[in-house]
Amino acid sequence: MLTSGGDSPGMNACVRAVVRTGLYHNLEVFGIVRGYAGMIEDDIQPMNSRSVANIIQRGGTILKTARSKEFRTPEGRKKAYANLRKRGIDGLVVIGGDGSFNGAQVFSNEFDIPCIGIPGTIDKDIAGTDFTIGFDTAVNTAVEAIDKIRDTADAHDRLFIIEVMGRDAGYIALHSGISTGAEHILIPERKTDIEAMLRSLEEKEKRQKLVNLVVVAEGDDFGGGNEVSKIIRERLPNADVRVCILGHIQRGGAPTCLDRVIASRMGYSAVECLIEGRHNVMVGIVNNRMHYTPLDKAVKATQKISEEWLKIVKILAS
Ligand code: F6P
Repeated sequence: MLTSGGDSPGMNACVRAVVRTGLYHNLEVFGIVRGYAGMIEDDIQPMNSRSVANIIQRGGTILKTARSKEFRTPEGRKKAYANLRKRGIDGLVVIGGDGSFNGAQVFSNEFDIPCIGIPGTIDKDIAGTDFTIGFDTAVNTAVEAIDKIRDTADAHDRLFIIEVMGRDAGYIALHSGISTGAEHILIPERKTDIEAMLRSLEEKEKRQKLVNLVVVAEGDDFGGGNEVSKIIRERLPNADVRVCILGHIQRGGAPTCLDRVIASRMGYSAVECLIEGRHNVMVGIVNNRMHYTPLDKAVKATQKISEEWLKIVKILAS
């Protein structure tokens, strides 16, 4: 088992579930340190029940994580396979995002080793699952921060631009923006009508509604919060504008109950899949039931952003 790509809160709960379910079935379980990089460098450790004690509540990942360029080469994958073979490892669980699943898919095609993917990313941008491990924690961290920003925005009558994570995905922006009453939400999946936004902010200024929150995903059309602030300042020179970039605090911290539960269910299911011979799938949860998507279809989902949600933002933020 390995964790790969950006870490996400709940990965540890998932590692624990994989280890303990494997041991329950009398399997030998190994943890690969630093993702695919550790597989190539032979940084692989046997895990027992105690190795995963006292981690269910911790953010980050005890297995560490990395993005490996070498694993993208056939030579790198060959070395990685040799390290698995010499330990008699005959199944792989990969906890990560779609990039990590691509790697797993290529690897299992080349070497005939069954791989199971578990969606672990704060971005929630994976097709075939309603949840990804870490999203709920990250979005609640953003909500807590934005609520605090609203207090100071209100005290000073300020317009705040808050940048949240999401290079390619607007789910954190959308959920945190709706739940904190943001006036505008800018996401990578939709082209922003900047003129309409500026007109609406001008109109609010005229009627002395000076406290405004604009939530921007880092990968929006304009390149994040600082860029959006330049455009707003130019058009509204009298507005008292501040920018807050939440950044990596969204990736850390104790996982929420929801993230711990889905991580435990997915980790358990991944091992069951390997045992039952349901290979090369990503384990997801859809309508509260386990759902299995072939690894090559477990790609970035960018089209699920609902028009209705965007309409709700407009109506509620008047
Ligand atoms: O994929 C998760 C994520 O946190 C994105 O939201 C963000 O754009 C990216 O990772 C940041 O990556 P890094 O930590 O490598 O800067």
